[in-house]
Amino acid sequence: MALRSSHVHLLLPFLLLFCYFSSISSHNSQDPTTKTMEEFSGYAIHEFESFLSTSLHSISLDIETLQSQIEELSTFSDTPAPSVTRILYSENDVLARRYVKNLMGLSGLSVREDAVGNIFGRWDGYEPELEAVATGSHIDAIPYAGKYDGVVGVLGAIEAINVLRRSGFKPKRSLEVILFTSEEPTRFGIGCLGSRLMAGSEQLANSLKETVDSQNMSFFDAARSAGYAKDNEDLSTVFLKKGSYSAFVELHIEQGPILEEEGVSIGIVTAIAAPASMEVEFEGNGGHAGAVLMPYRNDAGLGAAELALAVEKYVLESGSIDTVGTVGILELHPGAINSIPSKSHLKIDTRDIDEKRRNTVVEKIHQSAVTIAKNRRLSLTEFKIINQDPPALSDKSIIRAMEIATQELNLTHKSMISRAYHDSLFMARISPMGMIFIPCYKGYSHKPEEYASSGDIANGVKVLALTLAKLSQD
Ligand code: GLV
Ligand code: MN
Ligand code: MN
Repeated sequence: MALRSSHVHLLLPFLLLFCYFSSISSHNSQDPTTKTMEEFSGYAIHEFESFLSTSLHSISLDIETLQSQIEELSTFSDTPAPSVTRILYSENDVLARRYVKNLMGLSGLSVREDAVGNIFGRWDGYEPELEAVATGSHIDAIPYAGKYDGVVGVLGAIEAINVLRRSGFKPKRSLEVILFTSEEPTRFGIGCLGSRLMAGSEQLANSLKETVDSQNMSFFDAARSAGYAKDNEDLSTVFLKKGSYSAFVELHIEQGPILEEEGVSIGIVTAIAAPASMEVEFEGNGGHAGAVLMPYRNDAGLGAAELALAVEKYVLESGSIDTVGTVGILELHPGAINSIPSKSHLKIDTRDIDEKRRNTVVEKIHQSAVTIAKNRRLSLTEFKIINQDPPALSDKSIIRAMEIATQELNLTHKSMISRAYHDSLFMARISPMGMIFIPCYKGYSHKPEEYASSGDIANGVKVLALTLAKLSQD
């Protein structure tokens, strides 16, 4: 295809970028499915070869700086290193957000925030009226978590933008880096709070008016303390229309062992498993642990224990390795060794790639809670489904763009399912979505031992940069 001279200055950096990425790969691929840069870009490149040879060596991915940023961000934590605890709207969350906004600014992005603190850093394309291509993840961290969950997809995305800029690339569509508010459910009990609202969840917008944290602080007071939701409690301003972005791509550590075990560099996510969570409360009479004889007790703690075992049973009964269930919170009241628990409170998380099968587990857990309460003469004072989300599929053309990027870089890749949820699950409701996974040590995540190597992070950022470059020209 001939190149129109008026477009040369716009396309040249794009071609340079592909040459750059190809040049930093260690081998020449013999894979017959690997497309040449020329096929991929759709333009002849020979005209630019002399220009390329002088420009290639000046471009680089600055992995040392990225690593030191990951380390620095990890110091905004409520618990000592190596653990990271960063709870929504806490002082450390606000400081970490400031740190990221500053990096966005240094990368030449124009920064804006919505009413709940989703942060957007935009690089205007040369056709800024087109829907942008977005990328991003979260920086909140559950108690005693690690440094990489979410963070790689935020700081890595900023570095991907830096790589593109350094290459001289000019995007046609604008590129946006998004820092999503509260992917983790720690403070207000709901995961993907920011992206769920962006995808237009009226239900969440309404329920947040009544939501308080464990210290009884309301969602809106907490948001205001961090400088958000200043004017009113109308969160419809956070909603985005379907089609607001032409594509969304999230870079994330795998949080599972497969890539490391198989020695594969990049996971290309095809689907995200469907999560559901429930909150349950039993109430009994309590009483003195010595004086109340066993036949006269209705122990709310034993109701909770029985339900926890029932969760395991129903999950295993599904017969599929893809069904999982966890009782991550089990609290007893009054919490004294010599007092029969008069109240118990559980939070239950269950997931599956098959939504129907997951729903069957949820229903069985509900029935079981009713039966346990009856048999133990307890009151089931609460059985609340916090969320029951469908799975999401990645978009085929984004999968293809990610595959081509890994091939250009001579990296091995495999298709995989994300068993963890991500903001991508909700971005898929308003935009074509894709996810790039990188290996992490032993698959560890949600604990301080979480680790991803510089080499793996660098690979992920390069694949992200190339994928964004490709999608931004579409
Ligand atoms: C996200 O952190 C999840 O629990 O999958
Ligand atoms: Mn997480
Ligand atoms: Mn995450």
